[in-house]
Amino acid sequence: MVVVIDKPMATEDLLLLPFLFFLNSLYIEREEEEMRLHGTQLVNEQGHLEIGGCDTVELAKKFGTPLYIMDEAHIRDICQQYQGSFVKGMENAEVIYASKAFSTLAMCRIIDEEGLGLDVVSGGELYTALQANFPAARIYFHGNNKSREELTMAINAGVGRIVVDNFHEMSILNELAEDLNQRVNILLRVTPGIEAHTHEYIRTGQIDSKFGFTLSDGTADRALDLALSCPFLVVEGIHAHIGSQIFELDSFRHEVQIMIGYMSDIHVRIGYLLQELNLGGGFGIYYASGDEPAQITDYAKTVQAALEDACRDQKFPRPKIIIEPGRSIVGTAGTTLYTVGSIKEIPEIRKYIAVDGGMTDNPRLALYQARYEAVLANRASEETVESVSVTGKCCESGDMLILDIDLPKAISGDLLAVSCTGAYNYSMSSNYNRLTRPGVVLVAGGHADVIVRRETHSDLLRNDVLPARLK
Ligand code: LLP
Repeated sequence: MVVVIDKPMATEDLLLLPFLFFLNSLYIEREEEEMRLHGTQLVNEQGHLEIGGCDTVELAKKFGTPLYIMDEAHIRDICQQYQGSFVKGMENAEVIYASKAFSTLAMCRIIDEEGLGLDVVSGGELYTALQANFPAARIYFHGNNKSREELTMAINAGVGRIVVDNFHEMSILNELAEDLNQRVNILLRVTPGIEAHTHEYIRTGQIDSKFGFTLSDGTADRALDLALSCPFLVVEGIHAHIGSQIFELDSFRHEVQIMIGYMSDIHVRIGYLLQELNLGGGFGIYYASGDEPAQITDYAKTVQAALEDACRDQKFPRPKIIIEPGRSIVGTAGTTLYTVGSIKEIPEIRKYIAVDGGMTDNPRLALYQARYEAVLANRASEETVESVSVTGKCCESGDMLILDIDLPKAISGDLLAVSCTGAYNYSMSSNYNRLTRPGVVLVAGGHADVIVRRETHSDLLRNDVLPARLK
């Protein structure tokens, strides 16, 4: 709401002015809040969805569909919110981006420019970061089954921390570090036994987990004792990740409590002071109505308060705090643009709207019953008139993108924009049914740059080999 004053005001009206300005500022705050939800998205005069100053109808014409669109200003804004709340707002803290959510050269450059560190979980993610000239000292290397090759690559590159997940890795790492005559700084990954309220496939802090050393049965103690006896390993601290898409900040408070308690027990037991506490990622985001994520500032306040309480109670010196958000940095910054093709209506049962992508570019509904919202990008200001379900083009009944969403009456050729697809979509995409992966464009200030080229049919055959006897 904007207050327009178009005639001279009477004195009594003037008295109202402060109130009107107050109302106005409330509205502006709300608008800003709503804007932030989906970054720079808005509907332009032609009724088209616009992102980063780019008309999505034009993007579809220029780059084709399906297309992932990443909103650069929004990614940077979130990075700055994290840096502001955790790094500037706290003493001795670091935010590292979990690149599994979306890893490309351009993304690594943005993360470096914003001053965050980087979490990688494979040789491939590490290679991407190094090729993007990401400073190795700010890289953390995770993973529950790192190979000798991957560990060698990490040691040679000089990554900042290797997060050791298990005894097998610990012995290989010590051996490799000795061969390369280099001491390696490590964190130990522990499973603290916290069941965060999230989908079971993305819950990792509970005891029945493939990741890390269990705290409660003494395995973590044995791991630490062993690591301290490895001459080429330097144990800087511990790490835990309790799950993903977590809304309850209390889960993080609980995590801090348990981890500080454990660090303090170690200090009492063997006199070793662990200096770093990496709390993992997991901060939840908005995907669809009903999702009510907390604010990043409140996340930081919760961690800070829990840390102060736990350190005071345990008389333990405050360690360095590291967090590893992935989804919450890129999730709401991504939109996938599709073209509507066939439409099938089964009276009184369901209307299927099929688009030119599917579970190959977004497997999250199939995997986690994830919910999404969408608009018709070329008719974004039109009223919704019917409930439909959005399906893809894979030969699979479970190939659904959205179940039951209200849209204007869609016709073949319309553009469908599915929002909040920035995390774990491109990075989990596949070539099932030999569908080619969409390209990715980075939009900002009215410009769109291709940051990942659309795959072609010949890309599909890049690694196929036809033995002579089959020719
Ligand atoms: N740190 C560690 C050690 C992790 O395992 C993960 C995510 C993160 C950080 C980042 O968590 P985030 O802030 O993104 O929640 N594919 C699933 C998500 C799997 C998350 C795996 N680990 C999905 O699409 O929901």
